[in-house]
Amino acid sequence: MLKKIAVLTSGGDAPGMNAAIRAVTRMGIHLDCEVYGVRDGYDGLMKNKIAPLGLRDVGGVIHVGGTMLGSARSKEFMTIEGRQHALENLRSHGVEGLVVIGGNGSQTGASELNEMGFPTIGVASTIDNDLIGSDITIGVDTALNIALEAIDRLKVTASSHRRAFLVEVMGRNCGYLALMAGIAGGAEAILVPEIPQEPAILVDRLHESYKRGKTNGIVVVAEGAKPNIETLIKFCQEHDTGFEMRATTLGHIQRGGAPGAFDRNLATRLGANAAERLIHGERGCVVGLIKSTLATTPYAEVVGRTKGIDPDLFRLAEVMAL
Ligand code: F6P
Repeated sequence: MLKKIAVLTSGGDAPGMNAAIRAVTRMGIHLDCEVYGVRDGYDGLMKNKIAPLGLRDVGGVIHVGGTMLGSARSKEFMTIEGRQHALENLRSHGVEGLVVIGGNGSQTGASELNEMGFPTIGVASTIDNDLIGSDITIGVDTALNIALEAIDRLKVTASSHRRAFLVEVMGRNCGYLALMAGIAGGAEAILVPEIPQEPAILVDRLHESYKRGKTNGIVVVAEGAKPNIETLIKFCQEHDTGFEMRATTLGHIQRGGAPGAFDRNLATRLGANAAERLIHGERGCVVGLIKSTLATTPYAEVVGRTKGIDPDLFRLAEVMAL
């Protein structure tokens, strides 16, 4: 059994990260382990920003978005010397294992530390939902609901003016957020990086919708879609869709919300489970939810790979847009 573990958050923050930090801390202390928090992700590991976390330190955070530990990129950590330095810092506090809460890049870092002989375990957390190892990652549900609220509002104003809106959502190179926000928001079209589409096809779709009597159009565009929203809006404005065209980019608004019930519960379950596993000697894997059950996936299956999107859902979205 480990007696001292640390926890850090890394990469883009995601609503629910605080609930995961709280769960790691409280489960760790429950299992008679000391828990340390690393401030500012891997950068803080390099700078020895490592301090004990007590039960009360993680009080009053479960409902707050972002991460109380902070998150920052570190170029130095990318080098072997940097990672050695990070491990020296952890060991200087007597820390024996590390929980890393984050997405793809963060789990790659965790895997590297693990390969250098230091036990690490990951908690699947990113609004992009592109991480292998969890059907759904911490933050996705909240980000999706924020995007949806914006889409619903855009639909209202679009209807007043018979307009169509292109709405850009986040997701890096993954179309999951766009696809699910599009289905839930009743979008006329959804553009994702995984399935490139010609702008002319989008214009036709919108025009058909207009001719069928729709008073508004919503097109959800993933930030990684090609062509991107700037090219698409220009093309749509130069061609006849029937609608007056507008474009809105939601950006970081999607990341900053208070976590909903789903993300708080998911984060609590994943964080607590990761702490328990690490303390009992498991390492080298990401903890996630697979088919509604807590499960681990080895780093080797996670690192350098991303989840695809479900083409059936994409086809469903097309039918629902009729
Ligand atoms: O990975 C989460 C995410 O929000 C992506 O959807 C987006 O591409 C990226 O982070 C934005 O990064 P930054 O916060 O560094 O601008």
